[in-house]
Amino acid sequence: MTEPLFDEEGRTRFGTSGAVRVRVPAKINLHLGVGPLRPDGYHELTTVYHAISLYDEVTARRGDRLTLTMEGEGTGELPVDESNLVLRAARVLAAATGAPAHARLHLRKQIPVAGGLAGGSADAAAALVACDALWGTSLSRDQLAGIAAEVGSDVPFLVLGGTSLGTGRGEVLSPVLVRPIMWHWVVAVADGGLSTPEVYAHLDELRAAGKAPAPLTAPDDLLAALRQRNPELLAGCLGNDMQAAAVALRPALAETLAAGADAGALGGIVSGSGPTVVFLARDGAHAQLLADDLADSGTCRTALVATGPVAGARPV
Ligand code: C5P
Repeated sequence: MTEPLFDEEGRTRFGTSGAVRVRVPAKINLHLGVGPLRPDGYHELTTVYHAISLYDEVTARRGDRLTLTMEGEGTGELPVDESNLVLRAARVLAAATGAPAHARLHLRKQIPVAGGLAGGSADAAAALVACDALWGTSLSRDQLAGIAAEVGSDVPFLVLGGTSLGTGRGEVLSPVLVRPIMWHWVVAVADGGLSTPEVYAHLDELRAAGKAPAPLTAPDDLLAALRQRNPELLAGCLGNDMQAAAVALRPALAETLAAGADAGALGGIVSGSGPTVVFLARDGAHAQLLADDLADSGTCRTALVATGPVAGARPV
């Protein structure tokens, strides 16, 4: 008989007694093809996710109940109650494994809230990885990704990281395997966020009124550009069906996109449901120049340089 993972008091027999610190990246979508609204309220997607070097951190420590504290982006604005995705993720992991949901969790946020960078999903992915280590439940990455899908459509990708084709509502992943390469990005962060469901709903309205651009076709050219490791080619293939809706809701994004193009970006798109805009640069030096120009343009709150692809949620 195998020994139970937890004793009568619900203390883990394995796991760790110290703190587990997990770093998790933001995501951008190099291609975001939005299909029809499904009966379950989600849209059918074909997307190419890409994890970039802009990170949040979740630290998990032993506790006798489940608590969350936070610092950084969104503090005072994001709820730290049970509606927070970090706590939801911990509860879902506990329910799936039988582990008692006992941990003191602390979130350090750098990823802008409601920015189209999947910050909340990233925090959920980090919580899953951190609690898995703290509680000694030792799930495989694929098992964690399976549980992650219960928390949100983007959460499985943030567990895995890298570059991945996502289908279904975004949770069905197949990694895009290419020889190692580092792409250089500039992330133009806007003031304030956009609500993802509102941007999807606005896209549906634009489409119903015949005012949306033609939907993207399959990302074959983009996948070929990734394989050829050619930034000019990749820039020409970036696409996002949600961009028209995000720009309609936040017209100032057109100025951010124009400022990046004027500054010499190879290409630029709204990230996910926005309002963050990401630009592709030739190399690290070009990215820094672009970021400086964008910051001076006054069309964004801040412009950050980042590289991708990077790994998903990992203990540090
Ligand atoms: O899966 P997640 O909870 O992150 O999604 C947030 C919201 O975004 C959903 O409730 C839905 O309104 C919208 N969504 C969608 N289609 C998807 C993913 C998300 O309409 N494929």
